[in-house]
Formats: sequence, C-alpha cells, structure tokens
Amino acid sequence: MKSILISTLLVVFAILQVNAQNTLDLDLDQAKTTINKNIYGHFSEHLGTCIYEGIYVGEDSDIPNIEGYRTDVVEAFKEMKVPVLRWPGGCFADTYHWKDGIGPKEDRPSIVNVFWGGVTEDNSFGTHEFLNFCELVGIQPYLSINVGSGTVREAAEWVEYVTSSNESPMTDLRKKNGREDPWDVKFWGIGNETWGCGGDMTPEYYANIYRHFAGYVRGNDLQKIICGPSSDDTNWTEKIMEGMQGKMHMMQGMSMHHYTLPTNSWSGSKGSSTEFGEEMWFKTIRNTMVIDQLINDHLAVMDKYDPEGNVKLIVDEWGTWYDKLEGSKDGFLQQQNTVRDAVVAGINLNIFNNHADRISMANIAQVVNVLQAMILTNGAQMVKTPTYYVFKMYNVHQDATLIPSKLNTENYEYNGESIPALTASASVKDEVVSISLSNSNPNKAITIECELGNEDLKLISSQIVTGEKITDYNDFGKDEKVTVVDFKTEEAKQGKLSLEIPAHSVVLVQLK
Ligand code: AHR
Repeated sequence: MKSILISTLLVVFAILQVNAQNTLDLDLDQAKTTINKNIYGHFSEHLGTCIYEGIYVGEDSDIPNIEGYRTDVVEAFKEMKVPVLRWPGGCFADTYHWKDGIGPKEDRPSIVNVFWGGVTEDNSFGTHEFLNFCELVGIQPYLSINVGSGTVREAAEWVEYVTSSNESPMTDLRKKNGREDPWDVKFWGIGNETWGCGGDMTPEYYANIYRHFAGYVRGNDLQKIICGPSSDDTNWTEKIMEGMQGKMHMMQGMSMHHYTLPTNSWSGSKGSSTEFGEEMWFKTIRNTMVIDQLINDHLAVMDKYDPEGNVKLIVDEWGTWYDKLEGSKDGFLQQQNTVRDAVVAGINLNIFNNHADRISMANIAQVVNVLQAMILTNGAQMVKTPTYYVFKMYNVHQDATLIPSKLNTENYEYNGESIPALTASASVKDEVVSISLSNSNPNKAITIECELGNEDLKLISSQIVTGEKITDYNDFGKDEKVTVVDFKTEEAKQGKLSLEIPAHSVVLVQLK
C-alpha cells in the first residue's frame, strides 16, 4: 500500500515537473518595440501560376475579376491583411526588363522565362498591372531591380517612371500609358540572389555593383535593400558589409533568404508535401527553427559594421520547399500545404516578432500557387491553405508593440534528437494583449503557465489552427480540413493563464 502511494506521488510529481517546465513570462512594462506589419509580407514572382491564373486572369476571363484581378484572391488578400508584396522576382527579376511590360499589351514583346519552366512570358502583367493591384488591395509594393542582366540606366529610369512627379521623359511615358500620378513605392531591392541566379557574383564585386546602382536609385524616402546571404552564409554578410563601409547610408535593409527543406539538400528529393511521417515532420520543424540562430549570426556580423543597427534585416524569401506535386510542370514549384506548413509559419512568425527590433520585413515565398502558398487556385476554384489561416490569425500582431517574453519549454524528442517543443511571441495593441504559440510535438498536448504581469487581464478570445492529422490539407471542392476555429481556454486568474496547446497546432489567445 505504502509503495503504491509513493509511486502515485512520484507520478504526480513527475507530471507537475513536466508542466512546470513550460512557462511564458511576459514583461509588459518593457513593451516598446513596434512589430513592423511588413513582417507579415508576401512575395509574388512570374513563376508557374503565381501571377497568371493565380492573381491575374485578364478582364475577358470567365473567372470573376476586377480589372483582370481575381475577385476571390483580392478578397482573400484583404481578409488576411497583406501589408507588402514583393515583385517581379526572385530569379525572374534578373531577366526582367521593365519596359517590356508597359504600353499597349499587343505591342509588348514576349520573352522566355528561362529560370521557371522555359515558358513564354507575354508581359501582359507589368508595372502598371502590379502597382494598380497593390493600390486596389491596399498593399505596399516592394520592387526588385534587375541587377543580374539589367543596367544602371534601366534601374534609374524605372524609379523615375514609377515615383517621380517631375516633368521628364519617363514621367511623360507613364502619363502616355494612362497613369498621371506617381505610385507610392518605397521599397526597392537592388539585386536578388546575386550570389546565385542574380549574376553569380563574389560579395566584393557585388558590393561595388550595389554602390554603383544605389547611387542612381534616387527619390524621396526610398528604402534601398542590398542582397544579403542565403541561410548560414555569414561570409557573404561580412564581405558585403565590409564593402559598404563608409556608405552605410546607401542601404536601409539587407535581405536574407532561408528555405526550409526537410532533407537539407538542394539535390535529389526534398520530400513530399503531403505524404510524410514523423521523421520528415521532425526534420522540417528542426530545419525551420534554425532560422533564429541564423538571424542572430547575421545580426552579429552586421553589428560590427553598423553598431547602431540602422540597416534592418529583411527576410524576403522564406518558407518550405518540397518536391513538386505529381503531374505538375517542371519549374512551377507547386506543392500542397498541410498542418506542417501551418506550424512552420507559426514558428517563423513568432521568431520574427521576437526580433522586431532588427527585422523590418519578411516575405514568405510565395503568395499564390508556388512553394508555401497562402492560396491555391485551379481554374475558377480557390482554396485557402493552413498557412493562410496562420497569417490571418496572427495579423493582430501587425504594428502592435512587442511584449518581451521569456519562454521555458520542454523539448520534442525524436530519434535521439531534440528541439524546443513550443515557440511563442506576444504583443499589445489598443490594450489588447495577443499571445501566439506553436506546439511542434505531433503526439502530445502541452500545458504552459503564462505569467501575464497584469492581474486585470481577462480572456477575450482564443483561436487555433490545426487538423486531425499532421498531413491534413484543404483541397479543391472539398470541405476545409484546416482552418482557424475558436478554442476552449480557461479564464486568466490573478495574472496567470494556464493553456493546453494541442499537439501539432498554432494558437492565439487575446486578453484585455
Ligand atoms: O522563390 C523561388 C526562388 O527561390 C526565387 O526566384 C529565388 O530568388 C530563390 O532561389
């Protein structure tokens, strides 16, 4: 009898211990950094069916549209609150000559999209079509200048065509093409992946090229973004920062790309987007979580050259990259989007929020039909993916004030390896505190005790994105399996909130 009592007590103690590991302490008094809404940004490239079919179907299409833009996509973008959209690439930007995409459509030359499937690009979606779309939806545009195969003159003229209100050959041309006023375009990327598809340059060479281009990218209050590293390439960061010494004012941001490949390798299979077990789940989560360390590593290098932190980090390509869907075209990068992608999104957005002091923008790749998409289309049909619902649920963090927090989390272990099971971030806006959490453990709900730092806070809502299975996704013509739904949570008591975060889920709780 005595031994039963002792073992019961030990079990209870063990459970309490496990739970006690998981704590989140909010430091409301230190909330002062704004989470730039552009952290919730997106990326659209002339790649596969992202632009044509995905966003733009043309005015004569049977698919309901507003001036050629899909009505369903316009509405979905508004609902998700897309703050900023990068265009026209990506690698495509390095082959893009903007003058091919202006003027009467019948006069626009066609080109071959050499990076993405070798398809013909007829340039019917160009500068006006993109910028008008942004205005229609209320999005800030982020244009990517062709450094790989473009000229300084082309770059300078594009900026003048788009942003100038002076009398000039470029503004006359814009007016002739039907646009009297300049558009409001602040963000200009000068080169994309110049270490790869954007010219295969060395960092020393590119830093000089950047200085050359940036000197002619002129206008009021423009944010110029230098092409930064891929994943862990701190040497690239070091060399371009070194090359920019004395010219730091010529760049307001440095980009960084990090894709999450379950297999860690660009050659061979990257794994299926829908058929995977716990091993691939674990590797995906592990390979996405490293972005926190990568960000710290690049910031440490940047700090050496820019100790005041004036140059912001812009993660302008991130997300999962799996094998293409069976039957889809080579080079179209079409993949499905499951509960796994929702958890990847929740983790990355929590990490970016917590770096709000230095990350001023992030752009998930890509917004429609490509890689970790928000939206998938098939003819007139459209589905919103699990990733879409995480972005929609998290939009309360846009322009809110980050609440610094300290997370203690148990690990999620698989096959002898372990990673943190939970991630979290918190913000406050209009007196509403929003806490977002992800649970990577696919097998187990996790209880966490949150210390809110304010005894008056009362729960106003709690929502969740998850599915029955880790492989659940939303498919055309079927009921949604993964969406955002309300989720039952206990009331906060004396500034403490106890939450049980279900296995493989992303949760948002709000208190006031
Ligand atoms: O997002 C797909 C491609 O990935 C982009 O075009 C390129 O910049 C990156 O390599």
